[in-house]
Amino acid sequence: MKYRVMGLIAEGKTKLVYALDDPSLVLLRFKDQVTALDGKKKDVIPGKGALNANISARLFQILKQNGVENHYVETYDDSSLVVKRLQMIPVEVVCRNVATGSIVKRLPVAEGTVFDPPVVEFFLKDDARGDPMINESHMVALKLATKSEVGQMVDAILRANEVLKRFLEGRGMTLLDFKLEFGRADGGLLIGDELNPDCMRVRDASTERVLDKDLYRRGASLEEVKKAYEEFYRRIMER
Ligand code: C5P
Repeated sequence: MKYRVMGLIAEGKTKLVYALDDPSLVLLRFKDQVTALDGKKKDVIPGKGALNANISARLFQILKQNGVENHYVETYDDSSLVVKRLQMIPVEVVCRNVATGSIVKRLPVAEGTVFDPPVVEFFLKDDARGDPMINESHMVALKLATKSEVGQMVDAILRANEVLKRFLEGRGMTLLDFKLEFGRADGGLLIGDELNPDCMRVRDASTERVLDKDLYRRGASLEEVKKAYEEFYRRIMER
């Protein structure tokens, strides 16, 4: 093996982070766990970790090929990726092309409304407070990010959105919304974390079949959830 896996650095709901013998890199291992409602609902779907690792790898590669830099370095094994080590900013950055999910509960906007230009929102990663929505002023005041970094995150997620939207459209899918997380390395900002149906909403363009975690949120069987992730993976791997 090219890398030696060292100690566990962090454990989240769906991923483990391990140190590698190269201090500028870490190993991200995807778990089979699926969670919703800030972790209050959870289950295990055997094989989901591998699916999400491989989907993330493919989508990060697509972004990179289209000039959107991110932390992906290479695939380590079936459920693990080697990525650049980042100092993560505890903020979720969401980009929305179509109104659904939390925004239709918060704002007077009808489900299915198309946003052109897309909407960008920020949420503080804080389960105890239910991940509250925050703005640039909050991020600067709470020293989470500088004004320039906030601008860079908006620019990066809008560019990622254009690339992903076009790529998925080419495979018969519609990208409703997605979430990215960012971190710092060598003084610059980079897209980190994961990119798969756990953190995006994707529908079949003609049948509107749900191909993402909304199935789990809505109480579908674990088999149905896995089938949808497998279908998404199959489509993004088509040449
Ligand atoms: O719930 P909401 O509508 O705000 O979610 C917007 C997008 O962000 C969805 O694609 C959802 O999967 C993703 N998200 C996430 N992690 C969260 C909250 C939302 O990946 N904690």
